[in-house]
Amino acid sequence: MLEDSVDPAMLRHHGDVDARPGMLDFAVNVQGLAPPAWLRERLAARLTDLGRYPSAADEHAARAAVAARHGRSPDEVLLLAGAAEGFAMLPRLAPRLAAVIHPSFTEPELALREAAVPVTRVILDRPYTLDPALVPDEADLVVLGNPTNPTSILHPAETIEALRRPGRIVVVDEAFADAVASSGMSSALRGASPGAVGEPESLAGLSAPDVLVLRSLTKTWALAGLRCGYALGAPEVLARLTHGRPHWPLGTLQLEAIIATAEPSAVAESRRYADRIAADRTAMIDRLTALGLDVHTPATGPFLLLRVPDGALLRKRLADHGIAVRRADTFPGLGPDHLRVAVRGVGEVDRLIEAVNAALW
Ligand SMILES: Cc1ncc(COP(=O)(O)O)c(C=O)c1O
Repeated sequence: MLEDSVDPAMLRHHGDVDARPGMLDFAVNVQGLAPPAWLRERLAARLTDLGRYPSAADEHAARAAVAARHGRSPDEVLLLAGAAEGFAMLPRLAPRLAAVIHPSFTEPELALREAAVPVTRVILDRPYTLDPALVPDEADLVVLGNPTNPTSILHPAETIEALRRPGRIVVVDEAFADAVASSGMSSALRGASPGAVGEPESLAGLSAPDVLVLRSLTKTWALAGLRCGYALGAPEVLARLTHGRPHWPLGTLQLEAIIATAEPSAVAESRRYADRIAADRTAMIDRLTALGLDVHTPATGPFLLLRVPDGALLRKRLADHGIAVRRADTFPGLGPDHLRVAVRGVGEVDRLIEAVNAALW
């Protein structure tokens, strides 16, 4: 049962609903309109294999590739149809009380509530700094995002580790971790783990019995429609998550995408994307701030959280100009004055700035 104050429709709201076809899309955080050509070719080359069931060899190869990418062992890798599938599996851990850190992506909370898991919200106030002491001791499952959608906050890895307690599992949604640039990475973390591959504050390389990291291929590789992700965690935890899962949970193309994007050349490409996003983000913050908008900083993700008086009106006026931005009042802890915009290149930002100018003045 959902609490009266919790509106499932608000929790299920995603940016794809804000962006109608034909609009300039600042609402969805996927990079680019389609996967890169080399990845499309890799996938296309597997179309002829679709007459057969997904092979155990592909499944092993995908787990081995992900394990090598993060410095883990293959039995610590669970392949998923997107991070969203990982959230839907969390109730199988049978938590007595789940704490969800907000403002943050709402799917984990919804998945837990729909399975009748008791949920408590830990709502961080601006500047959204994580204080582990705010999480009730009795919470045996804690879920947070890093970097966090929609605040673009990156919590220090050591603060997340401070959430660990006997009997508790800490779930870190790192769907955007590969979009965080390496510059500014804390020296403690730089090179700390062979699996860190320059992704600041990521816990993907940490082998621990009580830390579960969820990753996604959706954003960086523009693969929202294929549904690919994975979890990294202790084999015992992964076994509990998959209990009762149907056979052949991922198709051949999903497995191929996971293999391809875990290869060192793809990881290097993702680091270059992250650097480009960082440069675009800096330029975008400067330009939006110069217009008088309140942009939440420091920002580390491929999106920015804005606070503007009457955000709903601005969003409507931008929509009239053919520009979609994400409402952010569906994120617990935020209100109608909050909007989220994806980080985009200069040409798209030119159009956004022009439209904001026209809307505000
Ligand atoms: C923070 C966050 N985590 C996870 C997801 C879902 O990722 P996937 O497409 O891999 O299910 C999203 C999608 O919007 C997201 O914003």
